[in-house]
Amino acid sequence: MSEIMNQTQENIRHDQSSDNSPNLSVNIAGVKLRNPVIAASGTFGSGSEYADIMDVSLLGGICTKGLTLSGRPGNTGVRIWETHSGLLNSIGLENSGIPAFIEKQLPYLRHLGPAVIANLSGAESNEYVKGAVLLNESSIDMIELNISCPNVKVGGMAFGLDPGTAAALVSAVRRVCRHKPLMVKLSPNAPSISAVAQACINAGADALSLINTFKAMAIDVVNRKPVFDNISAGLSGPAVKPIALNIVWELFEKVKESKTGIPIVGIGGISGPEDALEFLMAGSSAVQVGSATFSNPHTMIEIIDGIKKYMTANKMQNIGDISIRNKW
Ligand SMILES: Cc1cc2nc3c(=O)[nH]c(=O)nc-3n(C[C@H](O)[C@H](O)[C@H](O)COP(=O)(O)O)c2cc1C
Repeated sequence: MSEIMNQTQENIRHDQSSDNSPNLSVNIAGVKLRNPVIAASGTFGSGSEYADIMDVSLLGGICTKGLTLSGRPGNTGVRIWETHSGLLNSIGLENSGIPAFIEKQLPYLRHLGPAVIANLSGAESNEYVKGAVLLNESSIDMIELNISCPNVKVGGMAFGLDPGTAAALVSAVRRVCRHKPLMVKLSPNAPSISAVAQACINAGADALSLINTFKAMAIDVVNRKPVFDNISAGLSGPAVKPIALNIVWELFEKVKESKTGIPIVGIGGISGPEDALEFLMAGSSAVQVGSATFSNPHTMIEIIDGIKKYMTANKMQNIGDISIRNKW
């Protein structure tokens, strides 16, 4: 690790324990995060993979890889493909299953310090519900209900395209998820993401996270066939940022109208402090960072440091001061 990055991490550690520094902490549906920067699902392993590269304890939260009741091997063929300013992935929810996660990975994740958010997925409603029952009794801080994965043939995004289907699943999971806040992760591929958001709010979501990846594809022109065995994959990275930002901006209005005031966690192409500030200004209470970590593993630390410097320069005490939504 570079000397500069060492110093940056040391400064963040120092500021977290100082009374004079801006307060970066946020409260998402009752879960207190020390800052608004969360590792996005599927892009940060289970924390241990990055422990030698950075001080993982400085993050606000970590979302796990999408978890299903039983383990899954994931998709065959090519799984990752770079595009201009973006990344296509077709991982297909490879994971070891919720019981194995709780037994083997959760104790390590827990001791790291950041809030632990379990990304829950499934092929059918009953699988989500059974998974939620187990997670509800575990030591995770929050469930992120993944109704937006475009890389599986059954389930995943299929639950997040239609308001009625989404609401039925959120209600079913909400019923068994009594001890943990429920954040629902939305798909930008829904014909009306705002109708799905409203349905999830009515069905009892405590927070919304958005967006998951955009359905997209690539063709290998040498072999004259689609790159991915599943044909379609999910697009993420800087290419999607302005679209994701616009969705957050518009959904903020929807949430305000619903008068629930539930928090929005913004995701999509966030690659540096300015991107994160844009999402916080647009109405996100926190942000998740995914693809950018692959090209620069220090991105999230740089974002935390950049937000702190921005707040200091603009004489802001609390993270909520960054939002510009009360002016619009
Ligand atoms: C390799 C890869 C795997 C992912 N796996 C999951 C997953 O298991 N569950 C999920 O909800 N989102 C998953 N995502 C989506 C990200 O969490 C995030 O919503 C999306 O990539 C947009 O953010 P980004 O542009 O910062 O990457 C994955 C993304 C990538 C690139």
